[in-house]
Amino acid sequence: QRHLISAADLSRDDAVLILDTAEEMARVADRPIKKLPTLRGRTVVNLFFEDSTRTRISFEAAEKRLSADVINFSAKGSSVSKGESLKDTAQTLEAMGVDAVVIRHSASGAPHRLANSGWIDATVINAGDGTHQHPTQALLDAFTLRRRLVGRDAGIGQDLSGRRVTIVGDVLHSRVARSNVDLLHTLGAEVTLVAPPTLLPVGVESWPCEVSYDLDASLPKCDAVMMLRVQRERMNAAFFPTEREYSRRYGLDADRMARLPDHAVVMHPGPMVRGMEITAEVADSGRCTAVEQVANGVHIRMAVLYLLLGGKESALTSPRPAEE
Ligand code: CP
Repeated sequence: QRHLISAADLSRDDAVLILDTAEEMARVADRPIKKLPTLRGRTVVNLFFEDSTRTRISFEAAEKRLSADVINFSAKGSSVSKGESLKDTAQTLEAMGVDAVVIRHSASGAPHRLANSGWIDATVINAGDGTHQHPTQALLDAFTLRRRLVGRDAGIGQDLSGRRVTIVGDVLHSRVARSNVDLLHTLGAEVTLVAPPTLLPVGVESWPCEVSYDLDASLPKCDAVMMLRVQRERMNAAFFPTEREYSRRYGLDADRMARLPDHAVVMHPGPMVRGMEITAEVADSGRCTAVEQVANGVHIRMAVLYLLLGGKESALTSPRPAEE
């Protein structure tokens, strides 16, 4: 396949191939010179219509480590503010010779539209669209889980069969939760969502996971707990939970963390709201993988770029369209 739009599009073999390739890329990061010539002469544009720290910078780092030419586009300060459309923006960039577009957009479905509309020929990689999907986040989370729960070398070729992951918080607005439920299920893990009823989406019953309202009961049974940020910017003020009430029922503090099995890890995709979904004590503890997840994000994004753009030997396993 030419694009990465949704974690749900990845087969088990695709996902394991990406995780294994990311382990190869991690070896590059261990070298004094952290660069490969793979994408020399290819141009990648990072097209960000929504704020980002981790995803934008780690895609840029990944592209540069693969020797691509990198163009950074932020909607703020561009002709988007004069009313230019996504189609015209993308075609303008492609006219300058872009091979791949990494797109973050507040509208769910924008990367899918870009990839399937025929507007451009470039490869499209979804860096987070609305409340829909964030596939490279799910991949870096799976990579972190595999390393922590299976092992760096022992994990090669392995999925996450039988591992139990509890995802906690604002599932309603979370593209991270959606992508993780899809990918973790594909990789054989058992997922439980824990959230206030008002922060669960309609139709969650049909997702491949369990739903619970009792965090304290879920914690002793899981191998990892993934805390989500409460996304106030996507919420009507009338639906804001109070910080104190939310933290009391769904926040992770040191007492709650002590309920986890000894081997279990605490994950957070970032950015964290310390004091709301996670206390500073937990965020700074050795069990919290938030910073490790960021480092792993560069390996995963290198792997995705390499597999999608790096040549015929490196295509994802799904068959390519006949015309290619
Ligand atoms: N996790 C994540 O997507 O963070 P950013 O919004 O900073 O990219």
